[in-house]
Amino acid sequence: MTQPQTILKTILITGCSSGIGYATALELKNRGHKVVASARKEEDVARLQQEGFIAVQLDLADSKSIQKAVKKALELTDNQIDVLFNNSGFGQPGAVEDLSRETLRFQFETNVFGTQELTNLLIPVMRKQGHGRIIYNSSILGLVAMTYRGAYNASKYALEGLADTLRLELHGSNISVSLIEPGPIMSNFRQNSFDLYNKNIATDSFHKDTYKAMEERLQKEGAAVAFTLPAKAVADKVVHAVESKCPKIRYYVTFPTYLFAFLKRILPASWLDNLLRRV
Ligand SMILES: NC(=O)c1ccc[n+]([C@@H]2O[C@H](COP(=O)([O-])OP(=O)(O)OC[C@H]3O[C@@H](n4cnc5c(N)ncnc54)[C@H](OP(=O)(O)O)[C@@H]3O)[C@@H](O)[C@H]2O)c1
Repeated sequence: MTQPQTILKTILITGCSSGIGYATALELKNRGHKVVASARKEEDVARLQQEGFIAVQLDLADSKSIQKAVKKALELTDNQIDVLFNNSGFGQPGAVEDLSRETLRFQFETNVFGTQELTNLLIPVMRKQGHGRIIYNSSILGLVAMTYRGAYNASKYALEGLADTLRLELHGSNISVSLIEPGPIMSNFRQNSFDLYNKNIATDSFHKDTYKAMEERLQKEGAAVAFTLPAKAVADKVVHAVESKCPKIRYYVTFPTYLFAFLKRILPASWLDNLLRRV
């Protein structure tokens, strides 16, 4: 029996310099799709191009860069972007009471405002071509909160709200909206978080003693917690969201995501808090 042919698509991905973005770009390219891999730094764009990707520079914290990247991506793809994978993001650690207004804004500029600005520039393109898929890389921390991750938690909760609303508003447009919910994944994420912790969180914090455990976790080589998966595990879910006839609304990745999504549905809020305080 012959297998149904995969329809090859044009896919713009943010944050392809490393981790999940890179693994997903590679996987989709190997499956024959036309991938426009974007990265924030010029040197990463050059490296991706050397590796055979169509690559554009895109910094989500900068509106001009977003507009320029969209223009360039459309030129490179004959004005057709079938799928947008909003992958880029980082996690600013620190207790909520230690987050300055600037630090919170900095977190939101990339994870939320830039991501949605990019998405809003591509929705008219998708409407015009009569189809599209928008995939947001959220997190287990878009579903439940954990201590010292308030800025990141808030940014992913915000993404969940935008994505859920957008899906209702796009009903009937033939543009789908999916959310990927990874738990712990091997990438540069912790190293980047550690740098941001050092840069933006004051050392005289009330929490300075408990921060020591967090510093250890952020600097640990290899997987820092149980059930950590490679970035390819996320890429596999994105492949489904890109290729399946019926993309899902939410894709859980890693055991902790399945577990906490389930517990959130069944436990009273105070019991869930009790559990999350110990994680
Ligand atoms: N790793 C995990 O455990 C985990 C779990 C759940 C969800 N996630 C989500 O997965 C996504 C990818 O993270 P990752 O784990 O692959 O970490 P990563 O290796 O640190 O990759 C993050 C990517 O985002 C890019 N980025 C950061 N700021 C940007 C900006 N202003 N404009 C454009 N790109 C920017 C980074 O570019 P630079 O290299 O230039 O900084 C990098 O390419 C994030 O949205 C993250 O929240 C990760």
